[in-house]
Amino acid sequence: MISTYKLKDTKSKDAFRYSYLSQKFFPYLKPVLPKALLNICIAVPLGLLDGVVALSLRPYLDYVVNGNPQQTWTFLGHTVQIQSWFAAIIPVGIVSFAVLQGVLKYLSNYLTDWTANKMSLSLKKDLFRKLTTMDTQFFDINSSGLILTRFFTDPETASKDIIEIFKSFIMAIFGILGLVGVLLFNSWQLAIIGVTVMGIAMTPVVFIRKKIKKVSNANMVVSGNMTTNFNETVGGNKIMSAYNLQELQNKKFKAQTDEQFNLIISLTKRVGWMSPIMYFVCSIGIALVMMFGNHLILTGQLTAGAFASFVTSLLLLYKPTKTLGHTLTKLQNTFVAMSRVFELFDMENKIKSPEHPLIFQGLREKIEFKNVNFEYEEGVPVLKNFCLSVKKGETLALVGNSGGGKSTVVNLIPRFYDVNSGTIDFDGVNIKHFNLNDLRNNISFVFQDNFLFSGTLRENLLMGKLEATEEEIAQAVKLAHLDEFIGTLEDGLDTTVGERGTTLSGGQRQRVAIARALLKDAPIVILDEATSALDNESEAIVQKALDNLMKDKTVFVIAHRLSTIKNADRIAVINEGRLVEEGTHDELMRIEKGHYKHLYNMQFKIQESVNEGAANA
Ligand SMILES: Nc1ncnc2c1ncn2[C@@H]1O[C@H](COP(=O)(O)OP(=O)(O)O)[C@@H](O)[C@H]1O
Ligand SMILES: [Mg+2]
Repeated sequence: MISTYKLKDTKSKDAFRYSYLSQKFFPYLKPVLPKALLNICIAVPLGLLDGVVALSLRPYLDYVVNGNPQQTWTFLGHTVQIQSWFAAIIPVGIVSFAVLQGVLKYLSNYLTDWTANKMSLSLKKDLFRKLTTMDTQFFDINSSGLILTRFFTDPETASKDIIEIFKSFIMAIFGILGLVGVLLFNSWQLAIIGVTVMGIAMTPVVFIRKKIKKVSNANMVVSGNMTTNFNETVGGNKIMSAYNLQELQNKKFKAQTDEQFNLIISLTKRVGWMSPIMYFVCSIGIALVMMFGNHLILTGQLTAGAFASFVTSLLLLYKPTKTLGHTLTKLQNTFVAMSRVFELFDMENKIKSPEHPLIFQGLREKIEFKNVNFEYEEGVPVLKNFCLSVKKGETLALVGNSGGGKSTVVNLIPRFYDVNSGTIDFDGVNIKHFNLNDLRNNISFVFQDNFLFSGTLRENLLMGKLEATEEEIAQAVKLAHLDEFIGTLEDGLDTTVGERGTTLSGGQRQRVAIARALLKDAPIVILDEATSALDNESEAIVQKALDNLMKDKTVFVIAHRLSTIKNADRIAVINEGRLVEEGTHDELMRIEKGHYKHLYNMQFKIQESVNEGAANA
């Protein structure tokens, strides 16, 4: 199992462990196996048909062109003249073969597309499920583009192409077998020469696997970076325009495309010489065959028809041999992608339910941080020996300098991250012992910037409680102070919000998030700077909505508004990852040179005087 996982550093170490890959891949192949096997069965005659053309040349030349009209066959008492029989049957045969080939090709294409897409879809479905279970840290570490490439493009290469490649492979193999059969049938001596030469021509294919793997991995990283660039241009387009970053983005993209170009060309340089070399070796083979064949004909050991048929087979052999080389190269590419896909499945998410989880029955007494140490990156401690206790029903405000670790503290409660040492206990039970879904069902989180999913307002609200009734929704909308806004919308709750809720204002978005949390009605509420990004007016109304959400709940609130902080039952001051002061506003203000007093003087006092001024006016 891979625990910390940077997608960029992938090694595809299993790319050439074929038994491992086939074992991993089999579950996806299994449901389509009958169709896949049928497809392979069809590929066999399709491959062999090449040989038939070459084979038919021999009787055509020997019996029709050079034939003796007196030669006859006796068959079930009938006498047939061989020359005219072949002359009649060969054109009919050619047309029949074309029809047969056409039907088989159609069937084969249908089966290929069917099986390939089925496999690719089920692989993608499983990968998507895997993605949804990944830890928060995974999304911190990896860029969106790389994730997209790994979870979307790779499975396509891994599963979709493999059937096509495998079919070509089988067709090529049987094409070769058929043609080699024709060679042997015509002259085994010449066949030995021809096949040996072909064998030699094929050997370089074996040596390029490593290069393919390296280039494929590097290309995956570049493609991922390109996608990230796209995503950032889309998601950050306002910043891009505001700072005139278009040129910068273009430069980045150009560098990426150049890198990709160089990668592809470097592979072509290594692989591209194979085809000409193969061609050269083959031409030597043909020359040898010609020389020896002339000798055999002149000495009467070979008929002209047999020789023509032989040479035709040998020439036809070039195509499937080349296809074979090509598919072997492509197959390796596919294996690399496949190994990358299965690497993803092997990624272990560290944050999960224990094997025998306890059911979380709701908080009865308190939440306690006991000597919690935590770091995002190894060697960079963020929380240091952090201790804190919050009673049920209490509202605790977390304050402190930016970067001090407030968000980190609250992110540990729903286990977005796990502590490195120490424990977080609910009523004395380590939260790691609870079923993870259960734990998270009991916590509502409102962030500074809340994600809305594309869809309608109603759909976004229902995410808080899928089975909510109309009355419950209406109640939540009212408590979130959204009713007025929704009343102005033509489609009301069924209005579609843009991707990420872009069509709403900050305050509206925030209230949708609060309504969602109200529907969820979790006993523990976490507010991380939920009103920070808002102007005064929106802030006031969002605050009212938040007050409704906080009622009778155990609340962790990170806020910059003095009134919110003052209204809290208790204030915890966090500085550089430690709890440095704890108490009510008045208690903390009494500490001379205290952290809180300092913060108050620096930040809150101004707010207070502004508010007083506003009140007096
Ligand atoms: N996802 C993350 N990965 C790495 N470091 C992080 C991450 N989130 C926060 N940090 C770091 O942890 C420290 C505490 O951050 P945070 O808890 O967000 O502070 P606060 O909320 O008090 O402003 C900061 O130094 C910050 O850079
Ligand atoms: Mg924060």
